[in-house]
Amino acid sequence: MSKILVTGGAGYIGSHTVIELQKVGYEVVIVDNLSNSDSSVIERIEKISGIRPDFEEFDLCDQAAVATLFQKYSFSGIIHFAASKAVGESVEKPLLYYRNNLQSLINILESMRDYKVQNLVFSSSCTVYGQPEKLPVTENAPVQTAMSPYGNTKQISEEIIKDSVSAYQGIKAIALRYFNPVGAHESALIGELPIGVPLNLMPFITQTAIGLRQKLMVFGNDYNTTDGTCVRDYIHVSDLARAHVIAVERMMKGKNTNAYEFFNLGTGTGSTVLEVIQSFERTTGVKLNYEITGRRPGDVEQIYADTRFANEELGWKAEKTLDDMTASAWKWEKYYREVLSAS
Ligand code: UD1
Repeated sequence: MSKILVTGGAGYIGSHTVIELQKVGYEVVIVDNLSNSDSSVIERIEKISGIRPDFEEFDLCDQAAVATLFQKYSFSGIIHFAASKAVGESVEKPLLYYRNNLQSLINILESMRDYKVQNLVFSSSCTVYGQPEKLPVTENAPVQTAMSPYGNTKQISEEIIKDSVSAYQGIKAIALRYFNPVGAHESALIGELPIGVPLNLMPFITQTAIGLRQKLMVFGNDYNTTDGTCVRDYIHVSDLARAHVIAVERMMKGKNTNAYEFFNLGTGTGSTVLEVIQSFERTTGVKLNYEITGRRPGDVEQIYADTRFANEELGWKAEKTLDDMTASAWKWEKYYREVLSAS
């Protein structure tokens, strides 16, 4: 049976991807240093799928440990999620971000080269497009100067992968540029769990609704959009997770048309902040305490994906609606606070 390495597999998107891989019969090895997650996620994955993934706890910046891992297992593919991802923190600690995100990638690529492992799926972000001139944004839109060290690590990582693919015969890679992943697994056993005060919209909404935060601040209503608030392409994390399985299989089956490819992963539909709040209130019946405040520096006004390339080439389409996303995010928040963290 094919073994897939999932780095950051105890994290938010990683854990959902492990479930989708197991669903179609892959054996999964998770590497995670638990810097932004904890080992109970492994148990909960087992609870959902009935299969316990192999779990190795170490930091991928440790070159020798990565090499030892590749000696121990024979991987058919790698899905690399493990990375630091807080935009604000990256501005304060740029070297930490460059070291964590780039060193780990370099170690993985070196071991792929040395141990002849061919297929890499990389977690990238629509942040590489900045504020695109044309919407919806296609894969041909130019990459713009990153607005944060975090965003820059995604851009540089894509370059490192591209150069490695052209230099080292046999290595293939797909970068997946995510729009805004939200929501949680239908079981509510796994989901997004930010440490401290959430910076992203959906966890802030659910934490406000459960009473952990007083009020959601809506950052600006004077943008040039239907209701004045920013537009994003929110995508359900389980839809996103499925795309990773398809991407790794595409390379394993030799269906890729280039050794290095990249795809936008979104729904193609833009939603404003107020539309997300309305969806949340509609699906949960909970009234949200919120207030309009000033713009958040660095926010782009609107971005949503042109999904045609991913739909046609990968044969993948996001299926879940915004209501599915808000409902599942709420179900997870409640289950986590009322059951999981209480036990
Ligand atoms: C965030 C990341 C970005 C990443 C992307 C995809 C930041 C600054 N950027 O972008 O690097 O690639 O996710 O996952 O974290 N909002 C509020 N109030 C809040 C929080 C957010 O009004 O308390 C608004 C924002 O202004 C924005 C929208 O909600 O319009 C979404 O924000 P967020 O969830 O932080 O995602 P992005 O800013 O799109």
